[in-house]
Amino acid sequence: KPLDIDPSKLTIEKTTKPKELMKAEDLVFGQNFTDHMITIEWDITTGWKAPQIKPYQNLSLDPATCVFHYAFECFEGMKAYKDKAGKIRLFRPDKNMARFNTSAARIALPTFEPTALTELLAKFVQLESRFIPEKRGYSLYLRPTMIGTQKTLGVGAPGSALLYVIASPVGPYYPTGFKAISLEATDYAVRAWPGGVGDKKLGANYAPCIVPQREAMSRGFQQNLWLFGEEEFVTEVGTMNFFVALKNRETGQNELLTAPLDGTILNGVTRDSVLSLAREKLAPQGWKIEERKYTMKELDDAANEGRLIEAFGSGTAATVSPVRSISWKGKLVQCGLQDNEESGEITSLMKGWIEARQYGDEEHEWSMVC
Ligand code: COI
Repeated sequence: KPLDIDPSKLTIEKTTKPKELMKAEDLVFGQNFTDHMITIEWDITTGWKAPQIKPYQNLSLDPATCVFHYAFECFEGMKAYKDKAGKIRLFRPDKNMARFNTSAARIALPTFEPTALTELLAKFVQLESRFIPEKRGYSLYLRPTMIGTQKTLGVGAPGSALLYVIASPVGPYYPTGFKAISLEATDYAVRAWPGGVGDKKLGANYAPCIVPQREAMSRGFQQNLWLFGEEEFVTEVGTMNFFVALKNRETGQNELLTAPLDGTILNGVTRDSVLSLAREKLAPQGWKIEERKYTMKELDDAANEGRLIEAFGSGTAATVSPVRSISWKGKLVQCGLQDNEESGEITSLMKGWIEARQYGDEEHEWSMVC
């Protein structure tokens, strides 16, 4: 029987050339990496081999390796935080491990025992502790990655794979800080479709997003908004899930809306956290928390009738990202902010509620002390 990942077999080779730490303020998202990486090789006969932590280094792969040709690649994004007592905390690692397995399985890569990789991540972040800034808004971004490594141009399930984890100390995702962004609704391309793989974290889902994003940027918008279908359902923003707060026209009730997990939406850990917190803290104040399809027209109507309260994106990288406006069909749909406001109230509250659990200010089962 092929072996599963076995954390007790871990070997650690420490670097002899420790890197110099960057000043927290100078960190640019995903550009600096820690001293080490985790690697775990897999092949179809042995299964998972002994995990290794070793100096951060280049990979050496044959040009025929299947990842380069048929995109056998999936990844995760998660963060380790340092709390006030200096303890390191992972945020909901079980969610990332579960999704990683779902993504891997969809592209015929091997799966693994989720708690085994979490255990290795906990050891890894302890080893890299000095790279985790203690400042609020800062963390260590972890990038678990899995690739098919079989050397073949034949199109088939990879007979070998590599799981590796690299880590990057990060600050606020947008260099401009916690500021409202403006969006351009993309009407000429779709991110995902029913029966597709938009709910999986595959590298192949991300490359095609760059051109629409760059197009939006060229017209002065920071991100694009992904719509779907003739109805123009609102799905995601850039690489984030999307939330809107509005007042129901008939009932006058406040609603927090996001698209449902129908296979076209990434099952975001931050999305899930926002929904849980909203059900916990906003629902008792009369808010209706809804996962349902909604259209761009619905948002435009709400904006025109003064019922659009606010909108924000959610993701691991940015946590929450307030949205000022959406360019759609040649007009600008205003998302409820005053000119001098950078965030709506719900967005700011959410940021605070999530951070309290990420940084361990509030002891909660979502936060795993390493
Ligand atoms: C996120 O965490 O919001 C993302 O998906 C962005 C990441 C791919 C850099």
